[in-house]
Amino acid sequence: MLVPPSLKVHRDAPVRSLRVGARLDKYKLIGRLGEGGFATVYSAMDTIENRKVALKIPDARYSSNVQSVDELQREVRIMAQLNHPGILQLKDARTIDGHFVMVFPLGNETLGDRLTRRTARATTIDYAIQMVDSLAYAHEKRVLHRDIKPDNFILFDEGKIRLTDFGLARIQQGSHDLSASGTLGYIAPEQAMGKPGYRSDVFSIGLVIYRMLSGELPEYPFAAPLPGYARLRKGLSKDLVALIRKAIDPVPQRRFRDAVAMNNALKKIRYPLSDRSIVQVAATQRTTRRSTRRVA
Ligand SMILES: Nc1ncnc2c1ncn2[C@@H]1O[C@H](COP(=O)(O)OP(=O)(O)OP(=O)(O)O)[C@@H](O)[C@H]1O
Ligand SMILES: [Mg+2]
Repeated sequence: MLVPPSLKVHRDAPVRSLRVGARLDKYKLIGRLGEGGFATVYSAMDTIENRKVALKIPDARYSSNVQSVDELQREVRIMAQLNHPGILQLKDARTIDGHFVMVFPLGNETLGDRLTRRTARATTIDYAIQMVDSLAYAHEKRVLHRDIKPDNFILFDEGKIRLTDFGLARIQQGSHDLSASGTLGYIAPEQAMGKPGYRSDVFSIGLVIYRMLSGELPEYPFAAPLPGYARLRKGLSKDLVALIRKAIDPVPQRRFRDAVAMNNALKKIRYPLSDRSIVQVAATQRTTRRSTRRVA
């Protein structure tokens, strides 16, 4: 991790607007990847290391606001402590020409993009296992995510999926309680009321997994029958269906207390599919924590 102990911010430096082709120190902007609640993400070339990266640059209204900059720095320090194969590593964070720049490895696409295409069940389950493991690691370190959704999971080669944007939701507070469409999206009911906790992260990741396996996103108040429930169950083991339902229970106390508990329950499911065509290798034997196809 390359975050210096004191992130020096030049608050009075003039802020240039950014366009593709522009340079920010050693980074040359290649293109815009997208915009979120408070920042724009660019693909860029690190001209010294000669490799592509993703630059996340908060909008001027955040980077020129002293309180937001302090909050950003606090979150960056938290992110810098997370070191796990399923969590997108923050490679660098500093102010360049008045822009607060966070540098991450460049992924292929987001899980949100991926969900627009068909995916084999075994692959989806492999992703789900990696995702819960990553969140369990963060919860073990007592770090909440607060904004678990498909766009915050980035896909890499070799079937790797990584969670990004830890804690940043706190900075755009208010703006994410109700998304532009007027729905809660993946946010737990109690979090929407201003009470986020480990159980709300569990809810959000449960809902992402539900969406991955059913193609549908249930909405508040999550009354039965949930949309896509028949498709969710199709081919899935009963235990896995029960685990997902427990994670997305509208009542926080009925959910797993945190992602560690959810991960432990998930690891116990040896056969995630009802036809037993894939088997979860015991945690002690696996290094990458991926499910593998059973050799017949
Ligand atoms: N490391 C990365 N590699 C590749 N693409 C990325 C990366 N990080 C972000 N993106 C792209 O940039 C887009 C915008 O990201 P950003 O985090 O600003 O918004 P978001 O995830 O949609 O919402 P939020 O602000 O709530 O996190 C993402 O949807 C994704 O398409
Ligand atoms: Mg994001």
